[in-house]
Amino acid sequence: MKGSGSSSEATCAVHWLQGWEDGGQLARALESWPFLPCESRSQPAAEAAAAYLDRLRRLTAGGLVMAARDSGQGMWLAGLRRMDWDSELFGFGVGRLEPLISPPGADPCLVEPGLELIGACLAHAQGAGLMHLSSRVDARDTAAQRCLQQSGFLLVDTIVVYELAVAAVAPAPGEPDVRPARGEDAVPLREIAEGCFGNRAFNLNRFNCDPAFPPGKVRELYGCWLTNSLSGQQADHVLVYQGQEGPAGFLTCKLDRASTPGGGRGQVVLNAVRADLHGRGIYGRLTRAALEWFRAQGAETVEIATQLTNPAVHRVWQRLGARMANFYHTFHVDLRNRQHGAAAGPGKTKP
Ligand SMILES: CC(C)(COP(=O)(O)OP(=O)(O)OC[C@H]1O[C@@H](n2cnc3c(N)ncnc32)[C@H](O)[C@@H]1OP(=O)(O)O)[C@@H](O)C(=O)NCCC(=O)NCCS
Repeated sequence: MKGSGSSSEATCAVHWLQGWEDGGQLARALESWPFLPCESRSQPAAEAAAAYLDRLRRLTAGGLVMAARDSGQGMWLAGLRRMDWDSELFGFGVGRLEPLISPPGADPCLVEPGLELIGACLAHAQGAGLMHLSSRVDARDTAAQRCLQQSGFLLVDTIVVYELAVAAVAPAPGEPDVRPARGEDAVPLREIAEGCFGNRAFNLNRFNCDPAFPPGKVRELYGCWLTNSLSGQQADHVLVYQGQEGPAGFLTCKLDRASTPGGGRGQVVLNAVRADLHGRGIYGRLTRAALEWFRAQGAETVEIATQLTNPAVHRVWQRLGARMANFYHTFHVDLRNRQHGAAAGPGKTKP
């Protein structure tokens, strides 16, 4: 959709919550949103808004329900979707409230419209069988955070996104102990993923910080994620650090050529080192090898999102010269013990 010149609304199959429609203001509201993710500072707002909606549309094959409320100071906006993969894995309906957008410059204490909007979304989510919702908001959007907290959401993590221009890093010699993943790595790498991300001593993530998600299922989630990365479903390439006793760590790489047809944007998605081998420089070597792989693929930038609580990851990427591109807070609410009826709207959707 980038650069197509079509309007944002035309690109996204959005269903509006009845009584909470945008009055045709979606594109304008998104374009004036100060935290709209942009590929560069020079990207026109209309193009960034279209790309953002397009990404949401691709994430929401099952349908995106949106709701809007004009506060008099601008538009509050919320999107709600079911997360099929998570719902299937955990065995109950899991959804996401995203985006959640407060009007630019809104008084952070005047949050009534935002509270009403979230109440309508929660009621709709419960009516649609969702039992758990996450919401990821820009760390600078304090009005949205206030609304989430007043609506019963709890903070579960903070994500920092780094972006590195590949050309800004001098090509490095190969890392002799790093190689592409092979079929026989599947079991040991899965054990590393489950052991690292399922254990709060090694990684604090939004799943293992929320008692709604049983620890065994959290391990399974990261194990499946790794397996799907090896099969090519969730990664384009997986690098392995070969230790003396077998695989000691891995890093998964993804390329998003569609969003940047000129060169391509790389993404490091899942990465971990065997717990008994932490602190020996393995992650640093995996990362340098990944950068060379991205360079060979023609990627212009590489991005990694990590929890604020991961000092080793921050250290490695900052030393390479990566810039902090974004930061988000993630909030969760468990709807299973929550009463219906917080919403003011009828809660039906219409196309
Ligand atoms: C994060 C992780 C991959 C780091 O792997 P590692 O091999 O232990 O990291 P390294 O030994 O290469 O250390 C990288 C840098 O961080 C520093 N570092 C490591 N642990 C640190 C800590 N707790 N505090 C501050 N700095 C730390 C190291 O000194 C090194 O810096 P240097 O290059 O200046 O010497 C590993 O701890 C892990 O698997 N954690 C669990 C899963 C996880 O969190 N994955 C990342 C998700 S984005």
